[in-house]
This record gives sequence, C-alpha cells and structure tokens, in this order.
Amino acid sequence: MLIRAATAKTNAPRRYDHIKAAPIAGTMGAEITGVDLRKLGDAAFSEIEQALADHLAIFILDQDLSVEELEAFTQRFGAFGADPFIEGMKDHPHVLHVRKEANEMAPVVFGGLWHSDWSFLEKPPAYTILHAKEIPPYGGDTLYANGYLAYESLSDEMKRVLCSLTALHSAERGYGAQMQNIYAFLENMSVKTGGDASTRVQEHPLVRTHPVTKRKTLYVNPVYTVGIKGMHPEEAAPILAFLNDHMTHENFTCRFRWSPGAVAMWDNRCCLHLPISDYLGFRREMYRTTVEGERPYLES
Ligand code: SIN
Repeated sequence: MLIRAATAKTNAPRRYDHIKAAPIAGTMGAEITGVDLRKLGDAAFSEIEQALADHLAIFILDQDLSVEELEAFTQRFGAFGADPFIEGMKDHPHVLHVRKEANEMAPVVFGGLWHSDWSFLEKPPAYTILHAKEIPPYGGDTLYANGYLAYESLSDEMKRVLCSLTALHSAERGYGAQMQNIYAFLENMSVKTGGDASTRVQEHPLVRTHPVTKRKTLYVNPVYTVGIKGMHPEEAAPILAFLNDHMTHENFTCRFRWSPGAVAMWDNRCCLHLPISDYLGFRREMYRTTVEGERPYLES
C-alpha cells in the first residue's frame, strides 16, 4: 500500500548559531526569527542557506526591505532568474510587484495553480523570494509541497521507472495566447502571453538530483509539465495525473499564514507552491525576485 506520510524527523528543528528556526509542519517549512536581512553577516547568511536546504521553504519574519535591499539580498544567492511573460517594476526589472487591490473584481491570483516556478526554462529558478508588504486580515495563504517526500514514498520499481523518464515542460497552459483573457483580470499586473516562448518545449529529467542535498526529488507540476518524452499524450497523461495528485497530497504539504514583513524563500527544485485565492475584496501586496538555478540533472 502506498503510504503518504511524514515522520517527526522529516522536518525536525535544526540548531543554528545565528538564526532561530521553528518548523511550521511535519513535512517542510520553518519560520526564521532573530535576524535582520538588512544587516546580515556571512555566518547568518550561510545558516539561511542551510535552513533552506533543511526545510525547503523558510519564512523570515518581521523584515522591512526596500526594493533595493530585496535585490541585494537576492543577489547574495546568485544571479537573478529570468521572468518571462511578466513585466518587472520600473527601474527594477528583476522585481515583480505581485499585487491585488481590494477593488479588483475577479478571484484570480498570480500563480494560482500548483507549480514550480518557470520549470519550462532551460535553467529554472533555484529559489523564489517573496516579501509581503500588505496582507489580507485573513486568507491569501500559500501552500507548499515536498517533492523529496513524494519521491521517497514510492515503490522501488516505480522510482526505477520514473528515473528513466524525461518530462516535457512548456509555458503553453500558463502563458499561451489563450490565457490573455484570464490575465486581464489581474488588473494591476502586466502579463504578456503567447509567442514562441510560450510554446517552446524544454526537456528535464522527471526525477532530479538536488545539487546541495544530493537527494532525489520528483520534478513535475500540473501547469508546466505537458508530457513525457517518447510517450503518446494518452500514455503520459495518466502517469502525470498520478504524480501531480501524489505530490500535492495534503500529507506532503505545509501552509504558510503570511504576516506583514515576512520574507518567504522556497527551493523550486524540490517543492511546489500554490497561492490560495480566497481574499477577493482585500488588498495583498508583495515584491518577488528569483535566483537563477542550474540545468536540472539526475545523478545515478
Ligand atoms: C507565486 O507563485 O510566485 C506567488 C505566490 C504567492 O503569491 O503566494
């Protein structure tokens, strides 16, 4: 029987010397306190990197970063990632202003399906960083799912088969020309759909090795993974449907309740995320950056 469960050890608290980390669920995710990202020494920075590896997503509470400070923090992890289809802020092309005003009329939110950011790129972002400026009084949480746990819970035979497969990723479902009407509902974000970039197909191993932890993780998501190399669509669809359902099973997830000033950071290589659309009528404002990752690979 396929058992989907974390244990008390899966996301156990780790000891750090310069930051405090408190797990928010048994599966993944930790709130980080005791640190000011504007004055972050190298030792505390290294521990933040370690906490990301340990907890997959971290939520650094009570920060107040300007756009420039967010950019500087992001660049400590590496180069900015690309943001196809979404226009960055004026004078800050690598920062997206993720914003929904209280008077917007449609319950559509940016990124509102389970996904791993921009997995259709040759080098998808390693990390995404999201800094909350204003949040609804309730609602607007973000969910995360642990791809290591999803992979590790499968049978040895299933793992063997999946490790031999190459997944096909494309932006078509999320940002194809047919989506323009939907993005028109995001009244305060500038999204451009269509064109070659939206139909290009990128191949990635369906199971990838994380370059830091060396663990294997499922690397599929319901929006951008559109097929499996060498398979007919009718063959690939049920496999992908199973994997997407499996990976986003409640027992593999955590849920972050935002507070103003929180800086969420997640590792797109080993987790999916889902912002919840349940706050129409309230304002939610965030700044978002990404850090470029490597080309996904699988080590045998
Ligand atoms: C995103 O998918 O990057 C947005 C997440 C959120 O708004 O919580």
